[in-house]
Amino acid sequence: MIDAITSTAAPRIFSGVQPTGNLHLGNYLGAIKQWVALQHDYESIFCIVDLHAITVLQNPDALRKATLEMAAAYIAAGIDPEKCIIFPQSMVKEHTELAWMLGCSTPLGWLNRMTQFKDKAGKHKDQASLGLYGYPVLMAADILLYHATHVPVGEDQKQHLELTRDIAGAMNRQVNAELFTIPEPLIMGEATRVMSLRDGTSKMSKSDPSDMSRINLSDDDDTIRRKFQKAKTDMEPGITLAENRPESANLLRIYASLADISSKQAEAQFEGSEFSHFKKELAELTISQLAPMRDEMQRLLKDKAQLKAILKRGSEAASDIAATTIKDVKHALGFVRV
Ligand code: TRP
Repeated sequence: MIDAITSTAAPRIFSGVQPTGNLHLGNYLGAIKQWVALQHDYESIFCIVDLHAITVLQNPDALRKATLEMAAAYIAAGIDPEKCIIFPQSMVKEHTELAWMLGCSTPLGWLNRMTQFKDKAGKHKDQASLGLYGYPVLMAADILLYHATHVPVGEDQKQHLELTRDIAGAMNRQVNAELFTIPEPLIMGEATRVMSLRDGTSKMSKSDPSDMSRINLSDDDDTIRRKFQKAKTDMEPGITLAENRPESANLLRIYASLADISSKQAEAQFEGSEFSHFKKELAELTISQLAPMRDEMQRLLKDKAQLKAILKRGSEAASDIAATTIKDVKHALGFVRV
């Protein structure tokens, strides 16, 4: 029987996003903006999950660039590197180490249920990599290494978090100790799914061939105005959240999320308005939040040395916690320490 690891007294969050280039409004509202608010109530660890990114083929230079861009976006959005730990996953070797150990106690049957793998692997399962299959185990390692009590994620990651809880429970039973803290999901607010400006039923995405479908975090003010002005809306009268009016509902949810109000409140605010008026208001609100962030991101990306210094500090702070967990796990599993 090993000594139980007491989880941190303060509630702690861990979350991560993949370093995708071309950040857009969906990335900001779906994750980063929510974290900015959470950092005041939780001890916070925010990771740029580059090891998850290589589950699909990456261009090395583009991956490096996207990783720094994501870090700049976190900081420019208001995540305070003095208060929170910000780091790239690959800088802390314990993530890969723990993933292996957890993988040895994860039945294939559990992984076979993961809908994201099924979607991504499609019909060509035999060609999918071991890494893509094991993706959720690495995610479990990310979370369990830090004894996170809460994990802010979008709907699409709920199943992976359930798996993390199952793996943690199974390991705790296996070693008969509270080796891992069982994390709770924090499912995020209204605009976790920002939809395309050209099609209210598909997600805003960096890979949409139409640049008019998204607001990029690098767009200048006039481009933002033009994109909202041209955003698709139907011919029906009224600005509503009605399910059969996906474009109207999407724009309302974006407004609500930027204004920190509920989408119902936004709907009430624009009841009886014309779309032209609503879109102008929406564009100006967006600019008021994105413009300072865009400028700060550019400033941060000009001084790569400073940005890397922040990530180095973050990696060191993360490593301190992760190394302690790994030491306990290794002991629990029976590895000799010499
Ligand atoms: N799989 C998550 C996503 O695609 C990213 C991620 C990796 C993550 N590790 C994590 C999220 C740990 C929360 C906690 O969105």
